[in-house]
Amino acid sequence: MNKLNILLLGSGGRECALAWKMAQSPRLNHLFIAPGNPGTAAYGTNLSVNPMDFEAVARASVDHDIHLVVVGSEDPLVAGIADYFHSTPAVQHVLVVGPSRAAAQLEGSKAFAKQFMLRHNIPTAQHITITQATRDEGLKFLAAQHPPYVLKASGLAAGKGVLIVDTLDEARTQLLDMLNGKFGSAGNEVVIEQFLTGEECSVFVVTDGRDWRLLPVAKDYKRVGEGNTGLNTGGMGSISPVPMADAEFMRKVRDRIIQPTIDGLQQEQLPYCGFIFFGLMNMGGAPYVIEYNVRLGDPETQSVLPRLRTDLVSLLEASATGRLGQMDVSEDPRASATVIVTAGGYPEAYRKGDIITGTDQVDGSLVFQAGTRTEGGTLLTNGGRVLAVTSLAATPAAALAMTYANVGRIHFDGCYHRRDIGQ
Ligand code: AMP
Ligand code: GLY
Repeated sequence: MNKLNILLLGSGGRECALAWKMAQSPRLNHLFIAPGNPGTAAYGTNLSVNPMDFEAVARASVDHDIHLVVVGSEDPLVAGIADYFHSTPAVQHVLVVGPSRAAAQLEGSKAFAKQFMLRHNIPTAQHITITQATRDEGLKFLAAQHPPYVLKASGLAAGKGVLIVDTLDEARTQLLDMLNGKFGSAGNEVVIEQFLTGEECSVFVVTDGRDWRLLPVAKDYKRVGEGNTGLNTGGMGSISPVPMADAEFMRKVRDRIIQPTIDGLQQEQLPYCGFIFFGLMNMGGAPYVIEYNVRLGDPETQSVLPRLRTDLVSLLEASATGRLGQMDVSEDPRASATVIVTAGGYPEAYRKGDIITGTDQVDGSLVFQAGTRTEGGTLLTNGGRVLAVTSLAATPAAALAMTYANVGRIHFDGCYHRRDIGQ
C-alpha cells in the first residue's frame, strides 16, 4: 500500500478536524499542516507557511516530498492555488484537492454563482447584480421587493459581506455604501436577492469533476445569541444529521441541485476536484441554493467528519485522481453535536491571551482547536472562535448532553457558548 505525505492548508477548527480524521488513515505517511494550530500539532507537523504564499507552499511541498495538498479554506482556491501547482514544474506532480481558480468562482463571485445557477436551472433566490454604473437599477429593484432586503458583496468578504436589513431606507444606504467600498473591492458588484424563508442546512459533496459522493448533512448555527438572535458569526455550533433533510428532501437535492451543478461544471469545462458545499434553504419541502462554497464548512466539518466511516485520505486521493467512481462512502448512523466556545465579545472586539484550562478533563468528546496558541506549554486563547467540542452518540440528545457536559469542563476568562445548539 502506497502511503502519502499530505500538506493541509489552514489553521481553524475545520482543519483540526480534517487533521484528526486524516491521522487515522492507514494511507497516511506523514501529515504537515500549514500553518496549523496547537490542536493540529497533535496529528502532524505544523509548518509556519502562509497558504496564500504559493511559492512558499510549493517549496514546502518539495522539501517534505508532499504527494497531496488539501486546501481547507477558500482564499487560496479563489486565488488559484490549484492552477499554480498544475503549471509550476517543480510541483506539477503534486495532487491538489481543490478546484481550479475558474471553478472556485462559485464561491469567489456570488454574481458568477447566481449566473451559473440561472444557466443550469438550479433553484435559487431571484436576484439582480448591481455595479456603480447600474446603481439606479438597483435602487429600483429594491423598491419593488418586500422586506427584509438581502444584499451581498459579490466577492470574498471573510463571511461579512451578506446584509439582511428590514427597511427600504437602510437597504438603499447599504447598497450605496457597498458600491462605495464598504467591503473593499468585494463590493464592486452587489447581488440583491429575494429573501428566502425556511430551514437551512449544509450539504457537502466530494467530487472529481465527474462522479460525486455525498457526505453527512449538517446544520450550522450562525447567530451569536440563543434563539438565533444577535450578530452573524462564523458559526457557533453544528449538528449532524439534520432531521429536516429526510430521504425525500435529499432526493430533490440530488436531482435538482447536486447533479445539475456537477453537469454544469463539466459543460462549462470548469475543472473541479474537492469539496462542494451547498448552503441550502428548505422552502416548503423544496431546496434552494443560498450559496456555494468550494470547501468544507466550519463548524460543520467538526460534526461531519466524525460521522464519516470512509477513509478520508483514500477519498481525497480518489477525488484528485478522477477515481471517485470506485469509492464507497459510508456514514456512521450515530448523531454528532458540536458546540463552539468563543472569546467573550466575539464576533465584535474580544480579548486574546487568556489561559485555557480543562481541555485535559474532557471525557468522551473530541476537542478541535481553532483560535489557540501555546506559550511555554500553556494553552492560550488566540481568536474569536477558540475551540469546538464534538460528541458522537446514539441519539442527538445524547450527543448534545455529552458535548455540553464537556464544554462545562473547559474554562477561560470571558468564555462563551450558546446553550441551545440542536434545539
Ligand atoms: P452567506 O454568507 O451567503 O452564507 O449568507 C449568510 C446567511 O445569510 C445565510 O446562512 C442565511 O442565513 C442568510 N441568507 C443569505 N441569503 C439569504 C436569502 N436569500 N434569504 C434568506 N436568508 C439568506
Ligand atoms: N459554517 C459556514 C461556513 O463555513 O461558511
